[in-house]
Amino acid sequence: MISKKLLTFSIMTGAALSAANLQADEPSGKLAFNPAAARQSSLKMPSGETVDYTAFEGMFYVSNVEDSTYQTLNIYVPQSLKKGDETPIFLRTYIGGYMATTAKTPSPSDATGRALKEGYVVCIPGSRGANSTVMENGEKIYTGIAPNGLLDLKAAIRYLRYNDSLIPGDSERIIIDGTSAGGAMSALVGSTGDRPEYDSYLKKMGAAETSDKVFASVCYCPITDLNHADMEYEWLYGCTNAGVRHLNADQIKISEELQAECPAYINSLNLKDKSGNIINADNYKDYLKTFLIASAHKALEEGCEIPDTIGIIKYSEKPNFGGRPARQANADGRGAPSFGPAGMRPRINNNTDFVSGIDLDKYLSYVAGVTPLKTPPAFDQYGVLIDTPTPENNVFGDEKGTPANFTDFSLRHRLKDDKATLSDEMVKRVYIMNPMNFITQNATSVAPHWFIRHGAKDRDTSFLVPVNLATKLMNSGYDVNFFLPWNRPHSGDYNLDDLFGWIDSIL
Ligand code: DHB
Repeated sequence: MISKKLLTFSIMTGAALSAANLQADEPSGKLAFNPAAARQSSLKMPSGETVDYTAFEGMFYVSNVEDSTYQTLNIYVPQSLKKGDETPIFLRTYIGGYMATTAKTPSPSDATGRALKEGYVVCIPGSRGANSTVMENGEKIYTGIAPNGLLDLKAAIRYLRYNDSLIPGDSERIIIDGTSAGGAMSALVGSTGDRPEYDSYLKKMGAAETSDKVFASVCYCPITDLNHADMEYEWLYGCTNAGVRHLNADQIKISEELQAECPAYINSLNLKDKSGNIINADNYKDYLKTFLIASAHKALEEGCEIPDTIGIIKYSEKPNFGGRPARQANADGRGAPSFGPAGMRPRINNNTDFVSGIDLDKYLSYVAGVTPLKTPPAFDQYGVLIDTPTPENNVFGDEKGTPANFTDFSLRHRLKDDKATLSDEMVKRVYIMNPMNFITQNATSVAPHWFIRHGAKDRDTSFLVPVNLATKLMNSGYDVNFFLPWNRPHSGDYNLDDLFGWIDSIL
């Protein structure tokens, strides 16, 4: 039979294997992994180093394939596995903008290449999204409306576990990584393992009948908590409406209506800070400031210059960096400082007393000045003041490609009907697309380990979104590594030393 060890051996030695080596009790049928379908390749890392790997590509992870362009996954096995049979599987989703993505090959310039180089198994699944379509009886069907992209990722994880005895690496140690809409998917996968809410869908798709839990979730700038994201955006950035944001009277009215809804939501979360103090709408901004101050601290400590004009209040005595040259990142992300490439000087000490406070409104105006803010409503925009749907309106649309509202607020504005409410079906779809609904104490459905990053100048969603996600996870007892890296815009897979150091630490 082909045991995982034998397959690993064959990858390392190049010995041929065939599906005929399979024993009767091994995975069988449409979802059985075929180890014979391998090709050898290598990745040239920016450092010049070559990473050799074996590729297994184009495997369907559901038996009832609806969209053959997207419902496949690729697996990459490096020549030497970091931890033998217990090597984690690094699963990277390339979902962006809630769009479909094909299964991709590893890249030397992101976490997939680094993961291979570190000796991890890498899995890159495709998944349906807002723009994926098939023709059915002469009609165009949108295949990736919510929650289908998420279901595809769950099915891919089930495939890995179903074939655990055949695929190198340990399916009990899957680490999912995604950015933006992909970060939202990572948060959803991490918080909804084996939840019954998804069962009937997964059964219909012909997903393997096994667990879809993961070990760790890596979320870069997750665009999530979509049904509260509009109010969270306005509540935070409303201070810029009359200034740098340049809103017209209609937009200001929408902004103010949304702002008014946010305190009740914040209070409903029952969040606590690290010392157990209650966080509510009244002290929330002070809580947020602690994360931004920590970010500025670290940047200053590492030698970044922060201008005096953007709201970061520094102690008058400036640290002396000795005029040494900037600490440069290698092209593969090694050595990258946490705050991006601007104004770097080497770390000279671990003084943490550089920042005394932050003028939040001033800092938010700075962020809004770097990249213009979204106009209200930032996410459920369709039909409120303009007809243009956002990616979120499209992903909550129907199979015919008609966009939809996913909040009562925007639906009421579009229909000009104060009493309109979302359909039960839409309420359910929105519910199962929000990780905040599934984070509860000691739940086996929630990944034990979380790595969450949101750039300190990322305005694609409100800072409240990642802060609430991280806080709710921490409050519920999970291991959370959360930071707002200084000077980072909306982006992912940066500071790979940080990420892979963290992965080492949780293993
Ligand atoms: C993404 C960015 C957004 O601002 C958004 O609303 C949805 C998705 C993205 O980059 O994936």
